[in-house]
Amino acid sequence: MSATITTFERLKSKGIAAFKGGDYATARSYLVDAAECMIELAESAKTAEARRQHEALAGELVSLAKECDARRSHPQGAPRVRQGEKDEENATDASDWVVRERPTIGFDDIAGLEDVKTEIRLKMIYPFAHPELAAKYGITVGGGILLYGPPGTGKTMIAKAIAREIDATFFLISPAQIMSKWVGEAEQNIKKLFDAAKTETPSVIFIDEVEALVPRRKSDASTVMQRVVPQVLQELEGFDRKSDRALLFVGATNKPWLIDEAMLRPGRLDAKVYVGLPDAPARFKLLEIYLGKKPLAPDVEFGEFCDLLEGYSGADIRNIAQQAAHLPFLEAIGGQPPRPIGRSDLLSVIERTQPSVDKGDLTRFEKFTVTGD
Ligand SMILES: Nc1ncnc2c1ncn2[C@@H]1O[C@H](COP(=O)(O)OP(=O)(O)OP(=O)(O)O)[C@@H](O)[C@H]1O
Ligand SMILES: [Mg+2]
Repeated sequence: MSATITTFERLKSKGIAAFKGGDYATARSYLVDAAECMIELAESAKTAEARRQHEALAGELVSLAKECDARRSHPQGAPRVRQGEKDEENATDASDWVVRERPTIGFDDIAGLEDVKTEIRLKMIYPFAHPELAAKYGITVGGGILLYGPPGTGKTMIAKAIAREIDATFFLISPAQIMSKWVGEAEQNIKKLFDAAKTETPSVIFIDEVEALVPRRKSDASTVMQRVVPQVLQELEGFDRKSDRALLFVGATNKPWLIDEAMLRPGRLDAKVYVGLPDAPARFKLLEIYLGKKPLAPDVEFGEFCDLLEGYSGADIRNIAQQAAHLPFLEAIGGQPPRPIGRSDLLSVIERTQPSVDKGDLTRFEKFTVTGD
């Protein structure tokens, strides 16, 4: 049994490491193997409860493996649309490379980033909620915002929450798909995307890794790029800013210095918002969100871990919270009396987990914030 648990742990941690590193093909294969291993363990579980817990864990790994498929197919692979009934009716040609959804994440689900939320509320949410006052004070509705910062800090969550706050349709588009699968039709695809979004206002168009869509022209010799960048800029100019037909455009990037400067001028992605690592109160909230609902021993003090987790991203903290539950869980399914997650479980996970963002990366973002380059 212990050999199988060891194998399981090894497969799972390799899968998660590959997932974090963005190698979704490798991650998927390890995660599926780990899930199979867990199912075998479930079959030999001593109690029905242990069996159920094993199966639940296997199920989680399978979901993560599915997420790998989604992430792989989203940039390059097969067509994929997530949508409700309303979207079905309005499906357009763009629907095979755009993901449309009605997000459920709200600002309250995002720990910290209070300045970021305030700025976004002012620029994007309040003008929608109070169109008369916005008109009176000459505040335009709609527009573009660039979220930049290290990985795993909540940029995608924020983009979704914006759509949720104004009850907008969320269009998630993948530059890699536009550029690779549709080379030669890239400009038409951009136009189709904006046309589709205009028919469903309010809508939020979210372009992740926006530097891939509008890279600095001088740094990219591709002629496709030389045509696509002006096309995107032209569509942005054409945004209808009336409140009932407003479109919001949100870009996210880990490499803002690679984006064409023309994209960052007024009227385009003109609001640049840095989404950084969580500060102490945000780390506390992250611990509450990701550990708060798990059984915890009295020696677990969030204040202590809040300090120890300085430098870790929101995604790192979520992963640490998940991993800390594994040892007590595996002990319990191995037949020991169930125990809560203790301080030492958390400490040992933290000890073997490096923050995913290093200081050099942060310095690079600081430089961009100050110099725009
Ligand atoms: N501020 C936060 N509050 C709550 N959860 C967070 C926060 N930041 C990150 N997370 C957790 O980490 C996961 C990854 O966050 P998200 O995808 O938004 O990061 P990102 O900034 O878009 O990263 P990337 O640059 O890699 O795309 C989220 O699904 C969530 O579980
Ligand atoms: Mg993201």
